[in-house]
Amino acid sequence: MAVQTPQRGPKKPPKTPSNSESIVSELMMPHQVNNLGHVFGGELLSMVDRAAAVAAMRHAGCNTVTVSIDRVDFREPIYTGELVTCIARVNFVGRTSMEIGVRVEAENLLTGAKRHTNTCFLTFVAIDPKHRPCGVPGLDVSDPEDERRFREGRRRREVREALDRELAPSPR
Ligand SMILES: CC(C)(COP(=O)(O)OP(=O)(O)OC[C@H]1O[C@@H](n2cnc3c(N)ncnc32)[C@H](O)[C@@H]1OP(=O)(O)O)[C@@H](O)C(=O)NCCC(=O)NCCS
Repeated sequence: MAVQTPQRGPKKPPKTPSNSESIVSELMMPHQVNNLGHVFGGELLSMVDRAAAVAAMRHAGCNTVTVSIDRVDFREPIYTGELVTCIARVNFVGRTSMEIGVRVEAENLLTGAKRHTNTCFLTFVAIDPKHRPCGVPGLDVSDPEDERRFREGRRRREVREALDRELAPSPR
């Protein structure tokens, strides 16, 4: 299923999530860990943001900005000497925004054992040369897994918008 989104500016052909997938790896060093030897959450968030930005720019074909980072759960620690890999894919697209899902894995390079330590969801907005939001290509989710991620991304957006409406201060 190719999801055509209402667009601002010239129409762009749809892309699949695989077209824009981004993979970023980095070996964790002593300056990136706390006094327990666990990698700082902020180090991971920085890597996640950069991997997601690449997927967003590949999909949009223009500059993008991070507008929101959804819930981030640190499920287990990552230690010095482990290789951290962030795999970022576009899950859902709106008119100018894209939800990017990032899977974080830690690998013990001596044993080859890999652990899935985090998953994060970020929203990026495509930006035109005048720094205004601009239309992004539709997302071709003909693959059933991509379609499932698309539905979940759309649901997260609906829930976020409903919560924003519920918590908005009422006019006096
Ligand atoms: C991103 C930015 C241009 C959006 O401006 P805006 O006036 O909110 O634009 P709009 O209201 O037209 O919203 C644009 C899109 O962003 C989405 N959006 C806006 N705020 C959002 C939020 N908090 N969470 C998720 N999506 C959001 C809107 O739903 C809309 O999506 P759609 O076009 O797919 O329907 C503006 O918020 C900005 O410049 N933020 C700073 C970005 C930044 O500096 N990031 C850190 C460094 S990259």
